[in-house]
Amino acid sequence: MRIYMEADYAAMSKRAANIIAAEVIKKPDCVLGLATGSTPIATYKGLIEKCKNGELSFKEVKSVNLDEYKGLAGTHDQSYRYFMQENLFNHIDIDVANTNVPNGLAEDAEAECENYDALVASLGYADLQLLGLGNNGHIGFNEPDAHFTKATHVVDLTQSTIDANARFFASADDVPRQALTMGVGCIMAARRVLLIASGEAKADALYKMICGPITPDCPASILQLHPDVVVVGDTASLSKVVEAGVKVCE
Ligand code: GLP
Repeated sequence: MRIYMEADYAAMSKRAANIIAAEVIKKPDCVLGLATGSTPIATYKGLIEKCKNGELSFKEVKSVNLDEYKGLAGTHDQSYRYFMQENLFNHIDIDVANTNVPNGLAEDAEAECENYDALVASLGYADLQLLGLGNNGHIGFNEPDAHFTKATHVVDLTQSTIDANARFFASADDVPRQALTMGVGCIMAARRVLLIASGEAKADALYKMICGPITPDCPASILQLHPDVVVVGDTASLSKVVEAGVKVCE
């Protein structure tokens, strides 16, 4: 695991955008695994800038997103499809037909999950999987549980995730209670994982992910078993990791 510590959110985002850009330059038809949440927004802005100034093209890139709220249409302004359109896809030269987000409105959610796994497998899994980190150590919407779930699945969101995401909705009551999420199988099958984190609120989760035991109680801890993980955090999010004496690159 390579850990980069940046001064703040802006510097973290810049490094993350550079790492993703390097992947696209190296392999123009790569498969990018993409994430939502507030953390990647400036990373996506960096990619948009590089695309607009001609440094980067996403014409041949394919993407697979981690998750979607169950019950939200892609046109709902809090759906993850909508987020991706607004924060990235509408501003770059990617072919929208090559972008994939689980369908939150699928009548048969279990079948949608199975199909999503088959789709990601048919694309050969992600060359680079971008991840944010939940305050409780979740990745995608893989919540703390008694076991790791390998396949894409429907998950009941924990109260802490509902509370954390309530800021994006009119009220906590409006936050969907379930989501469709890639399991740890597709995430671990990615050739490289890039996890980004910012702010003190992520310090505990980042510490448990990097220094704690590998346990489904902190789903991100499974990344300790992945051969190519790059973590980019800011000083606040990495404070406990540094305190524990883990070597970071600056
Ligand atoms: C959400 C998403 C995750 C994201 C996480 C952190 O629930 N499902 O993919 O990484 O929460 O969000 P944020 O970046 O806003 O802290």
